[in-house]
Amino acid sequence: MQHPKPAKRSRLSEHALFLKQVIRNPRAMGSIVPSTRYLSRVIGRLAAAGLHGPVLEIGAGTGSVTRAMINAGIAVEQLHIVELNPGLCRHLRQQFPGATVIAADATRLSASLPPETVGKYRMVVSGLPLVNMPREASEAIIGEIKRCMAADGRLLQFTYLPFSPLSESRHALRARRIAWVLRNVPPATVWQYQNAGLALEESL
Ligand SMILES: C[S@@+](CC[C@H](N)C(=O)[O-])C[C@H]1O[C@@H](n2cnc3c(N)ncnc32)[C@H](O)[C@@H]1O
Repeated sequence: MQHPKPAKRSRLSEHALFLKQVIRNPRAMGSIVPSTRYLSRVIGRLAAAGLHGPVLEIGAGTGSVTRAMINAGIAVEQLHIVELNPGLCRHLRQQFPGATVIAADATRLSASLPPETVGKYRMVVSGLPLVNMPREASEAIIGEIKRCMAADGRLLQFTYLPFSPLSESRHALRARRIAWVLRNVPPATVWQYQNAGLALEESL
């Protein structure tokens, strides 16, 4: 199927759009700038490695990680994006025609996605500022992500903190520090999570 060409925005105008949303709702944005191309590239490659099936991105912002996933080989039609901010959703639809962009709160993730995909995502990429959120919201989101992931699915989450933003024991997940990106501002760590019940050889 042919999709209309995206209206390309410059990096500068994407930064301006991001900053505008930060001024409106700093807590939901969790950062004053989008992820750098260094961090986005690392996440894009990790998300694309050995992947089959749709990829769920939550909290895509202005789409820096989205673009990197496409550049790493993920077909735009395979991208399902859930983003809270309607203005950013409009921007994402313009930039990535062909992607499924859903304006919704990740606390209601499973009810917002196409029902046939729930429980089937083998790759979930989160740009959500989980550590800035009230505890009930972050707990609800992690529960929803687990509901939407396939049993052998993986979740990638980046953080600026030195420790895992998700508790392995509370969420029955196994965490692995998979990348450290010094050239991001601020430096970021990418964590990969999988169901703790998975046999070790399946997870590597
Ligand atoms: C730090 S930005 C990340 C943007 C992008 N992934 C990047 O790396 O530049 C966090 C994004 O999560 C979105 N967000 C925050 N809370 C959310 C929620 N409850 N549900 C869906 N998206 C949310 C914000 O609107 C924002 O676009």
